[in-house]
Amino acid sequence: MPHQNSSVAVATDFPALTTRYPLADGRIIRRHYLDSAASTLTMGCAKQVADELLRHYANTHSELHFSARIVSHAYAWAHQQVLKFVHADPVQHTAFFAGTGCTAPLNRLARSLAAQRPERNIVLASLMEHHANDLPHRKHAGTVVQIPLIGPAPALGAVNLMALERLLEQHQGRVNYLAISAASNVTGIINPVHTIAALAHRHGAWIVVDASQYLAHAPLSISDTGAPERELDALAFSGHKLYAPGSPGVAVVRRTLLASQEPDEVGGGMVDDVSRTGYQVTARFPDREEAGTPNILGAVQLGAVLNVLQRVGMAQIHAAEQVRLRQLLAGLATVPGVRIYGDSDPDRTPRLGTVAFNLDGLEQGLVAAVLNDYFNVAVRNGCFCAHPYVRELLKPELWAMEIDPDAVDAALQLKAWQGMVRASLGLYSTAEDVAALLTGLRDLQSRPDFYRAHYAADTAGNCHHRTFTAPAELLFDPEAALDRALERLSAPFAVL
Ligand SMILES: Cc1ncc(COP(=O)(O)O)c(C=O)c1O
Repeated sequence: MPHQNSSVAVATDFPALTTRYPLADGRIIRRHYLDSAASTLTMGCAKQVADELLRHYANTHSELHFSARIVSHAYAWAHQQVLKFVHADPVQHTAFFAGTGCTAPLNRLARSLAAQRPERNIVLASLMEHHANDLPHRKHAGTVVQIPLIGPAPALGAVNLMALERLLEQHQGRVNYLAISAASNVTGIINPVHTIAALAHRHGAWIVVDASQYLAHAPLSISDTGAPERELDALAFSGHKLYAPGSPGVAVVRRTLLASQEPDEVGGGMVDDVSRTGYQVTARFPDREEAGTPNILGAVQLGAVLNVLQRVGMAQIHAAEQVRLRQLLAGLATVPGVRIYGDSDPDRTPRLGTVAFNLDGLEQGLVAAVLNDYFNVAVRNGCFCAHPYVRELLKPELWAMEIDPDAVDAALQLKAWQGMVRASLGLYSTAEDVAALLTGLRDLQSRPDFYRAHYAADTAGNCHHRTFTAPAELLFDPEAALDRALERLSAPFAVL
């Protein structure tokens, strides 16, 4: 049941929202954080749960003492929150934590699924995949064939379902699984994952969904309408993109996909017995998938976030973000010389709150640096770990410059300036944040020479201010922070 009025309070419960930095023009103002697609900020109430748990901290592999029982219970609760969040049936599915982001579970899934059906050595991955949902399949699961997207560049849309069907027919009996993002980390464009699941299943293929860019922004169920053919076989996501930095990567998987083979990773906690010559892997989920001591605090923090988001209601969060996204798209459209990548009509091509763009005549490295140094607007620039997609989106521009992005040496020709600027929203993003971005872009467009004169580009295309420096260690010095913390202690280094 959505909790009325709670979204306002939760949306402001992010301690890092008030962080201020000094700027090149001498002002000291609040940061406008528009880089949530890279990592979101920490939700205060969820962090508080993890901090409270610290008072009981123990290892989940200990069993009998009070703290061990408390921590094991909290860790199990985190798993339950994950399953509930994606409406996964706890009897049919398991949720397990791995690594520091979704790269680890995606590698695990690639190895596990490849081992189960080695005769099916083709994976179909959409052209918009982040490298994390592409390279693990290339390395562990055979040949990755890319699924084209709808429409022409730069206004590419979602996965082209007709092209996908043709690929499934062409490689009939050889496609092990599909690797598809629920939403792109470059354009925020949403893929119809349940429809894609139905297509995959009709051809005997599984579907692995990378939901890293989706789950913080919109509701997603593993089973959609309840029709089994539309159900997702596995999904993976990163807690640090879901308001819980420091939390592990997560996978939700149909148990039958994992039960028939030995888990990919082995070690403590996933066995019932070990003799000098053999070992017995436990049948218990998720234990068998979580060898070693887990990241308990991170998982519990993530569980708390997922619980909060469900109380607010993901539909409500999604609706609020769509309002902000439309403000952002409409505002960008009024900035002279802006080119937005991916179909920018959200009614035709649904997208989440992530927008990649360029400004005519201004390198993305310069735009991002000026936004930071003069406007305290944090955006990401470059290729966002999605090189094939970014190059496809840039294709018309590259062709106009007589560069073939598909050429073997394309990377050498492109490196210094290729890429885009990306602004991405979280549930804390305000109209003021969007306005700050637009103000910066308009100012850049109105006096490019002023800004250009202040910057020098390095060989990687990053621009550095010629006179203004704000070294990271002056903005935050971990050792100074530690010294302040130690001041609480009267005899800090005395040994008991
Ligand atoms: C769509 C998508 N998939 C995968 C990843 C990789 O996530 P992580 O770095 O947390 O492993 C990212 C990170 O940006 C992403 O945006």
